[in-house]
Amino acid sequence: MGARHISFTPAKPLLASELNQSTLDAKYAVRGKIPIRADEIRNHIESNPNSHGLPYDRIISANIGNPQQLDQKPLTWYRQVLSLLQYPHILDKVDASVIHELFPKDVIERAKTILGSTGSMGAYSHSQGDSYVRKSVAKFISERDGYPADPQSIFLTGGASAAVQYLLQILSSDKNSGFLIPIPQYPLYTATIALNNAVPIGYFLDEANNWSTNPTQIRQLIHENNAKGINIKALVVINPGNPTGAILTKEDIKNIIDIAAEHGLVLIADEVYQENVFEGEFVSMKRVLSELNEQHPELYSNVQLASLHSTSKGVSGECGQRGGYMELVGFTEEVRQVVFKLASINLCSVVSGQALMELMVNPPKPGQESYEVYHAETSGIHSDLQGRSSSLYAAFNKMEDITCNKPMGAMYLFPRLNFTEESYPKLYKDSDDTGVVVDELYCVELLESTGICCVPGSGFGQVPDTYHLRTTFLPPGTEWIESWANFHKEFVKKYKG
Ligand SMILES: Cc1ncc(COP(=O)(O)O)c(C=O)c1O
Repeated sequence: MGARHISFTPAKPLLASELNQSTLDAKYAVRGKIPIRADEIRNHIESNPNSHGLPYDRIISANIGNPQQLDQKPLTWYRQVLSLLQYPHILDKVDASVIHELFPKDVIERAKTILGSTGSMGAYSHSQGDSYVRKSVAKFISERDGYPADPQSIFLTGGASAAVQYLLQILSSDKNSGFLIPIPQYPLYTATIALNNAVPIGYFLDEANNWSTNPTQIRQLIHENNAKGINIKALVVINPGNPTGAILTKEDIKNIIDIAAEHGLVLIADEVYQENVFEGEFVSMKRVLSELNEQHPELYSNVQLASLHSTSKGVSGECGQRGGYMELVGFTEEVRQVVFKLASINLCSVVSGQALMELMVNPPKPGQESYEVYHAETSGIHSDLQGRSSSLYAAFNKMEDITCNKPMGAMYLFPRLNFTEESYPKLYKDSDDTGVVVDELYCVELLESTGICCVPGSGFGQVPDTYHLRTTFLPPGTEWIESWANFHKEFVKKYKG
């Protein structure tokens, strides 16, 4: 073949400015600037293990609630069933007495039941998720709340994130679609609102009142935004709260439902931390709505609620497996069909994540072979997390010019940095000179000095002129807390006065 004689001016690669503007505008602090810098430091340490020149040997990833990245062990029950699901050859070909030496009987039975419904883990499932798993989820919800749940209303999703994406996409009918979100919030919400070119309307949680909601303020925001031509579609509630760690009272939840009923707002109840409760009681939005509906159907029967749950949190911590569900209540069949279409376009959520959801909502019962180990492991993780939250909370409240509300649940603390301009003039000067906000400056110096990676409050939203940071309490041990306390002393010495 002869040589090709070609001549043209090669086209340039794309510029970011040529991409979808909404994607460019979206921000996600949990994996933002500071975690990216932490990755660079981690790479530097890994490439220069004996000569990295830093006063620490590893990065402590306190920026994200990712328990198994921080040494939490997966539950034996989950992984035993999953291993049979992924390699069913063992069930078919290995002699029964040999399998029983490796796996408890209830594990083998459950794996067979799941495979009987899903077929292979490698096959697409029904768009809404496997019907056996959806039945288990409905049973779990009805036992939790004392009110029935319909498997037809359950959508199994790739973590709760996919449910949030579906809901916000469907509800963003035009650029005037508004979403009431708590401030501080988990930044998935602001990011997804930005991706859909819709309007975030932040309602402030009351820090002085253990991060409670203020219905008067929410009503005021509805009034103001309606007057501006914003069509408010939904009200988001995160309970237990990320980043606040607070748990809503039943009274708070009733007030929120009243607002939704009065204004026709879809309620999005993000309840992924419902198992992570240390103080008080988690009451689901579904339960409170069902009670109100029973008493006053004339007021509440039109309320539309989407409740979300996940296998990523609780004591499961299986973030990488992408299991989640949403339950839709009160939506018309017409709207449910649109959600179904969107789920169908995405084909299905990861089938092994669906199986994990089944194992989470339908765990071994007392008397079954796996029960003892399951119970010991889950209660061990729960008390461990509670202990870690208390240690970090105590440490923050000993630090000068930091205050922190007592965590009631979830996996985070959101301490406040009480660094006023009068007391910390040098800090504000540095912030002005560099254009880096005060809480971000603190997080950058914390990372560079100790290897601890957390996220500035500005990434979650906060009352103007207040500064916070969000950290998980998941990292094991107390050494990192001591190193944080020492850093803090130095920081105060450097900037105060
Ligand atoms: C409040 C909240 N909602 C949703 C998610 C998403 O979790 P996943 O998609 O892993 O279920 C998170 C993750 O941290 C969260 O904190």
